[in-house]
Amino acid sequence: MCGIVGYVGGRDAVPILFEALQRLEYRGYDSAGVAVVSGDALKVHKRAGRVDELVRTAPKRLRGHVGIGHTRWATHGEPTDANAHPHVDSANHVAVVHNGIIENASELRATVLADVVFTSQTDTEVLAHLIAAQHEAELEEAVRAALLLVEGAYGIAVIDVRQPDRIVVARNGSPVLLGIGKGEHFVASDASALVRHTDQVVYLDDREMAVLEADGFRTFTLDAEDTEKRPTTAPVSKTAYDKAGHADYMHKEIHEQPVAVERALSGRIDRRFATAHLGGIDLSPRDVLALRRIKVLGCGSAYYAGLVGAQLFESLTRIPADAEAASEFRYRNPVIEADTLYIAISQSGETFDTLAAVQEIKRKGGRVLGIVNTPGSTIARECNAGIYLHAGPEVSVTSTKTFTSTAVVLALLALHLGRIRDVGPADGGRLVRALAALPEQIALVLAAEDAIAETATVLAAASSAFYIGRVRGYHVALEGAQKLKEVSYIHAEAYPAAELKHGPLALVCPDIPTVVITPCDELWDKNMGSIAEIRARGGPVVAVTDAATPIPGVTATAVVPTTEPELQPILLAVPLQLLAYHVALALGRDIDKPRNLAKSVTVE
Ligand code: G6P
Repeated sequence: MCGIVGYVGGRDAVPILFEALQRLEYRGYDSAGVAVVSGDALKVHKRAGRVDELVRTAPKRLRGHVGIGHTRWATHGEPTDANAHPHVDSANHVAVVHNGIIENASELRATVLADVVFTSQTDTEVLAHLIAAQHEAELEEAVRAALLLVEGAYGIAVIDVRQPDRIVVARNGSPVLLGIGKGEHFVASDASALVRHTDQVVYLDDREMAVLEADGFRTFTLDAEDTEKRPTTAPVSKTAYDKAGHADYMHKEIHEQPVAVERALSGRIDRRFATAHLGGIDLSPRDVLALRRIKVLGCGSAYYAGLVGAQLFESLTRIPADAEAASEFRYRNPVIEADTLYIAISQSGETFDTLAAVQEIKRKGGRVLGIVNTPGSTIARECNAGIYLHAGPEVSVTSTKTFTSTAVVLALLALHLGRIRDVGPADGGRLVRALAALPEQIALVLAAEDAIAETATVLAAASSAFYIGRVRGYHVALEGAQKLKEVSYIHAEAYPAAELKHGPLALVCPDIPTVVITPCDELWDKNMGSIAEIRARGGPVVAVTDAATPIPGVTATAVVPTTEPELQPILLAVPLQLLAYHVALALGRDIDKPRNLAKSVTVE
């Protein structure tokens, strides 16, 4: 979690750090801070709250040619001014920003740092004191010696007022990259922070460090062996971070879905052989025939998209498939089988639990395919093979376009595997045509935004809501409830429709609406039964369906176009995004940055 940035060069570091922190806020936004070497003093400005607040309150004379910055998502210690980064040692010589968790922080506080007076509750302050306590001539050597005492995950950047020509950085489990400029160098937790300055980057690996000066950089391992990394071009575009006339990123990203899905499909549909081509999956037809199981892993919306995918895999390949939260999988000592295809899904490619699951699978000899949006990210690099979403950067904390793009990529993969196994050309052709039509169909759903905005008033007035669905509708219900919860703060729970009567129905009443996901499929009559049960208890119903005929008794209906049954979840998810968005808008929520959350969860 947390965003880190650093600058060393001829320009004033402060505006560069502020601008980069604004871009990094998606990684955490409960407090922020910068430290610069200003003349012969180390100056730190930090506070609880957003980066805008940090900028607004910055002292006029805060400037310097070397500096580091941080935007935080609290782990150890509340989001207060004192707990905000950077952290300094007692002599105010060394400043540190840190992303990750130092697991032996309490132990180090009680032993090697027993005499130190701490000013914060953070694990990071331990690092500042440890580095200051190393009696090494060079900062990089002091940092290296300190890190050898530390257990845990970190991405760090360090400056020292006594050596104001450099920044020292290190990575172990939390991303750090170097930005290469002319006569200046940058540090960031991801390339998007540097988009205004350079696209030439060097990704550090775990247990790797670097020292950056204005005119050059050097990389080496924690064991002091040089690694001689070369810069690569980061695939980031400047315009991807504009709101393009939308009030917020969530709205922009919802409306980008037709284009994002088009890109996910681009070059991957083979109409002639009614299948999908996926360049990076590294699976021969013989490998596919040998598969006995498919296991999909992810967190949050990536996990819910994985559930949609698992259902697609099972129906198109007849290979048993399921999805599981990566955080659970990694800790339950799972059985790893050579004939299982493991699929890890992650928009950011940095989610810690998903990464740990990938590493656990690989440790036990399993094969993992990554479905990732961010090129060059840790999970993308860690997987044996992969498929990129090509959805472009997603800035809003609430996932929208990457959920649909992931579901589309999973459908392409299911089609590809299915055509090798159980699906014939006629069925393949049916799916190919349906996939190709999705961008236009999503655009039709988006065109009905005004009606969905009106429906949002039903939910905006409630303190709690249920989302229910059966089979293809259930996973969409899970994702829909998650959207509502995180962006509007209205409590929402998703249930398989038939489970409602096993408990939750006790809560149904005129104040608690239920959103029923009811595609026009073989379970339609069952869903009508559930609606009747809710109505009989006075519960308002919002239906989301592709059926053109009105449903008796419902308060509002969102209608989506009809596609092939297997792909229907993808279209049904879109009105639920708009619904959550408009509820949040009506309630005046902070749409792109919901409280307590972060876009990229790089802690356990
Ligand atoms: C966070 C985000 C979610 C996202 C999840 C997994 O919780 O707020 O929107 O689904 O992380 O992120 P990933 O980058 O791995 O897809």
